[in-house]
Amino acid sequence: MRTQVGIVGAGPAGLMLSHLLHLRGVESVVVESRSREAIEATIRAGILEQSTVDMMARAGVGDRLKREGVVHHGTILRFNGRDHRIDFEGLTGGRVATLYPQHEVLKDLIKARLDAGGDIRFEAKDTVVEDVESPRPRIRFTDKDGRAQNLECDFVAGCDGSYGVSRPAIPQDKRKDYLRIYPFGWFGILCEAPPSSEELVYARHPRGFALISSRTPEVQRMYFQCDPNDKTDNWSEDRIWEELQTRVSGEDGFRLKEGRIFQKNIVPMRSFVCEPMQHGRLFIAGDAAHTVPPTGAKGMNLAMADIHVLDRALGRFYADGSTDLLDTYSETALKRVWRAQHFSWWMTSMLHRFEGASEFDEKRQLAELDLVTSSVPAATSLAQNYVGLPLE
Ligand code: DHB
Repeated sequence: MRTQVGIVGAGPAGLMLSHLLHLRGVESVVVESRSREAIEATIRAGILEQSTVDMMARAGVGDRLKREGVVHHGTILRFNGRDHRIDFEGLTGGRVATLYPQHEVLKDLIKARLDAGGDIRFEAKDTVVEDVESPRPRIRFTDKDGRAQNLECDFVAGCDGSYGVSRPAIPQDKRKDYLRIYPFGWFGILCEAPPSSEELVYARHPRGFALISSRTPEVQRMYFQCDPNDKTDNWSEDRIWEELQTRVSGEDGFRLKEGRIFQKNIVPMRSFVCEPMQHGRLFIAGDAAHTVPPTGAKGMNLAMADIHVLDRALGRFYADGSTDLLDTYSETALKRVWRAQHFSWWMTSMLHRFEGASEFDEKRQLAELDLVTSSVPAATSLAQNYVGLPLE
């Protein structure tokens, strides 16, 4: 088998790249370990930056997002038991965040690829990326019918997430990994209940952080800071609600609307960057190259921003044979990656409880929250980063 660009991973990055290349007339094959059903049913992130929404629209896959996505004009930072609103729209000249779950983005992209005759190999096993230093890199895998496949490509795009096979195909001595592990995780739930707030609530409480988000008018997503080694089975529904209610409680009497909890999971928190994001003819993007802690919802958006850069670079190559944008892919993408790393780390640091923090640390944290909710320049900085920097 031969294609122009072999793509490992049918997540937001891999599918968007395949779709954008198709619009340019460049062929690709996507190799994915999971089934279409599993991908379309896994609940992950929920918030799209303005530039991700614009990218979906420009690529012709934004109709359902426009109809069903819920625009968030601002967000709530809750501390000292009170709400403090950040007005994204007013502070950024009209930019907003949009709530549209990642698996809905994936459904739209998979449909667009399959409708256009795109080639996605679901349920591939034993995938390996080889010979990326040669002019003919390959992806080898066993397809879902058990047949060994050898996909020869001009380029390989590694979009297979934090635990994929692409990043390890960059030799250890040719890359540097930057890692920070946080001493806490997020306990996430999905529940059948009406929304408790029109906008997302990021709450800082002496017992730890909590986030009140949503998925649909009937299904809500909430998280609270937890021990990363805790087990979901240790938490009954009653105990979860008591903890969440405590963390958002305050003098205004705010209460969450409770309902049956039908999914629980614990998300680890880390910051990670692999530099460079290229080796030979292998280009890595999204979580294959970097991870952000979830605070601030940058993960999927950053993956899409990588693809914006990579698609243009491959487009230039196939238009006139020039490798100049491919040569600067890593440098260009990493600039935004590090900005998002800083923002995600900062939001995490400002809102979480750190074991062993001194009273001074706690007062300083509250002063910072006071600053970003009362100073226009400080609030503007948060708002601009949250809705996302424009793509270059
Ligand atoms: C969600 C997750 C986030 O990390 C965040 O900052 C906002 C929303 C969510 O899953 O809805």
